[in-house]
Amino acid sequence: MIPLFDSTKQYKEIKEEILSAINKVIESGRVILGEEVKKLEKNIANFIGVKHGIGVANGSDALVIALRAMGIKSGDKVITTPYTFFATASAIVRNNGVPIFVDVDKETYNIDLNQVEKVLKKEKIFGIIPVHLFGQTVNLEDLLFLKEKYGIKILEDCAQSIGSEGIVNGEIRKSGSVGDAAIFSFFPTKNLGTYGDGGMIVTNDEKIYENSKMLRVHGAKKKYFHDVVGYNSRLDEIHAAILNVKFKYLDKWTEKRINIASIYAKYFENWKLSIKYPRILKKSFKYHVFHQYVVEFENNKIREKVKEHLNKEGIGTSIYYPVPLHLQKCFKNLGYKKGDLPISEKLSQTTLALPIFPELTEEEIEKIVFEIKRGSEV
Ligand SMILES: Cc1ncc(COP(=O)(O)O)c(C=O)c1O
Repeated sequence: MIPLFDSTKQYKEIKEEILSAINKVIESGRVILGEEVKKLEKNIANFIGVKHGIGVANGSDALVIALRAMGIKSGDKVITTPYTFFATASAIVRNNGVPIFVDVDKETYNIDLNQVEKVLKKEKIFGIIPVHLFGQTVNLEDLLFLKEKYGIKILEDCAQSIGSEGIVNGEIRKSGSVGDAAIFSFFPTKNLGTYGDGGMIVTNDEKIYENSKMLRVHGAKKKYFHDVVGYNSRLDEIHAAILNVKFKYLDKWTEKRINIASIYAKYFENWKLSIKYPRILKKSFKYHVFHQYVVEFENNKIREKVKEHLNKEGIGTSIYYPVPLHLQKCFKNLGYKKGDLPISEKLSQTTLALPIFPELTEEEIEKIVFEIKRGSEV
């Protein structure tokens, strides 16, 4: 059995530290928004290279709160990708905004910024939510260029990309450091995940920081005095304590993920499989942190055949994402139809996520690639 994701091996390595951190929180008697949350907010903000972090209950809430803290108004249009997790777009709708879906680039699967610019030339847009999908950084310089040229807001969705990097004016920058704000998810399967839910907003902007802090506790700057109607979206101390332990290992685990991706690539290359897999580029920065390792088949029939074969062999896979967001039933009212965003629609039919987590071994990778070959031949 090789699962798509396995947290148990990692837990064995850090069990003592995790249990001691949890115990310390419980013994302290302070279990909500205490010192561990503050420490995590500092850790993440410093790591990304921004001033502030605001811990919240999960990544989905982080998107809703950040967008509202940035000043979105009812009816505002926000551009995003249809090839992402639902929460990216639902955050716009939950703020009474209107998502404008723009297709993705066929190589990176990230939102196509050339097409974004075409929309910006035509319509009044509040902002963009770019997603650094599967852990690969959207071009940060191009994002900043659009921000400055069109005066739009940027909320980076870094739920899958913690630690990924890009280049701005010759300098290495982390994803999450160029937007007006950025969000992270600490869902268990994420590169930095807890044993439950958690999320964070980061920003350099004082107003977004103050607004977000207020919105996460029912819109109250001072306890029981509510300026606006906010949310109950606090990050628990236990999760923050777990994440503070895990944070120390994040760079090491990221290196392992990158190494796993290059081992996959080596086997795919040697065995001459006719599938598309992430190219390993020789760069001096972490352009991809491989939250997911996603390959692309020629058509849906082959993908389904291979998926079924792998399943029989006990190898976990997943489809990210089977229905692009512009075709989701709940967004019918937006008026999109099949064929509008062809690349995302094709990817939803042809891609498959393979197992990746830092403890995956070369033998397991070899077995997975071998079974993909067998599965595509039968
Ligand atoms: C791209 C993206 N955005 C947002 C989220 C939402 O995060 P959460 O599951 O913590 O609410 C996720 C995670 O599932 C995600 O993958």
